Amino acid sequence: MKTDIETIQRLVLEAAETARKETASEPEPEKSRKAKWPLTCTVGPGLEGAIACESKVGYVNGAKGWLVYRGYNIFELCAYSSFEEVSFLLLHGKMPKAVELDLFKRKLFNYARINKVIMQLMGFPIDQMSVMGALRLGANLMRSQYRNLDKANARPAPFDAISADEDSIAMETLPSGSERATFEFRSSVRRAAAKPKRGFDKASGLEDSCHLIAGISCIAAAVSRIHNGLLPLEPRPDLSFAGNLIYLITGRQPTPVQERVMDIALILHADHGMNASTFATMVVASTLADIYFSVGAGIAALSGPLHGGANEEVLRSLREIGSVEKVKPWIERKLAEKGKVSGFGHRVYKAYDPRARILGPLAGLLIKEKPELKPLYAVAQKLEETVLNTFGKEKKIFPNVDFYSGLIYSFLGFDDELFTPMFAASRVAGWTARVLEYMENNRIFRPRGLYIGEFNKRYVPLKLRA
Ligand code: ACO
Repeated sequence: MKTDIETIQRLVLEAAETARKETASEPEPEKSRKAKWPLTCTVGPGLEGAIACESKVGYVNGAKGWLVYRGYNIFELCAYSSFEEVSFLLLHGKMPKAVELDLFKRKLFNYARINKVIMQLMGFPIDQMSVMGALRLGANLMRSQYRNLDKANARPAPFDAISADEDSIAMETLPSGSERATFEFRSSVRRAAAKPKRGFDKASGLEDSCHLIAGISCIAAAVSRIHNGLLPLEPRPDLSFAGNLIYLITGRQPTPVQERVMDIALILHADHGMNASTFATMVVASTLADIYFSVGAGIAALSGPLHGGANEEVLRSLREIGSVEKVKPWIERKLAEKGKVSGFGHRVYKAYDPRARILGPLAGLLIKEKPELKPLYAVAQKLEETVLNTFGKEKKIFPNVDFYSGLIYSFLGFDDELFTPMFAASRVAGWTARVLEYMENNRIFRPRGLYIGEFNKRYVPLKLRA
């Protein structure tokens, strides 16, 4: 048993060594320093190249194939750490002491008991929703359950002052005239008595982040079970976060190898620079909307096929190819149609994606427990070899994280529809860590659009328009 876990550690450290050797000639990154705002940078479409903020949470170096969380490289974290510890690291900016980690794990476990949210969720037609759709809804239900953020004294307080301005009326059915003035006066007194915090409250933000990290994965697991005609399960205190996730989805106690591989997959997806879902989360948070709404925006952004979801496509391709001999003709056809091979290439990495470098060998290890899936794994290996030898090395197109993550989840017994939700279950740690950091010096995001339309057009009444 112990040797299996040691094998995983060895595979990760070997991957680290290969990565180090292969990219040794790439220059080391410059030592980071605080920026002097405003900055001058070249911006492409989709804000490519724009620097949105400073951060100490994580770093990606595409040329060297580095992924770093809070100064620790991803290989080291995967070899020695756990998702719980990495979440603490991302949120708090430092490694926990033993007692802190123990408390943090207990907190996550307590927050994972979200029966009320699951019951409420079951009142919606979730059998007709995607898991990502249900997750988005679930984040909102968690918001109501825990913080009562819609209650009057928990709202931000832009309307504390007595005002006759129609815009200050929160509801359409309020009384009018002097009664309204009294109502507003009374409600402002009530709010003052409750001393609502203005702006961002970091302590509550940290609690909410733990609640979300614990809850999102439970909702994904529950929805998947409901989709399969099964009842949701309650988390078990004797299992780790990763172990519980497998148990909550499959109902099976995972083997130590499965649990550790899941743990590593969670670590690998926890943060990745200023990607679309992280940015979406931060934009919403920067308006002082609460962190549940912000994470809901992250889930929505991740649900798009240009962001999450490539791993589902990889599995479809591997099944479509079917056998090792068909790999070459399949690629030739794909390239002739000017199509892209899913799971290869990356906007930032022009070296082998470190996450794929770790997940590849781990998929090879899991296959020993599921020999029936060997042919699929063999096709994946052949596909990687063929892509690298035909155009990959030349164009710097390597496998990305999605190439092996779908295989890993499939080997763990998860349905394809869970692949992107697993991404969300882990990335919520990075989303919340970056929101907490940004809120310390919050400035609402407000880029400009370049107006390329016309001026001085005259209004033509409807009946005169041709
Ligand atoms: N298969 C075949 N050729 C590719 C691939 C691929 N997967 N990726 C890039 N190329 C080729 C392009 O055709 C292009 O060739 P050309 O110079 O002859 O025209 C060259 O490599 C550069 O490609 P770009 O599209 O400019 O690369 P970019 O950095 O813009 O795109 C992207 C990155 C979108 C990820 C792309 O590689 C792709 O579509 N990959 C497949 C989908 C996928 O796996 N997405 C998951 C990404 S990881 C993530 O989001 C978590």
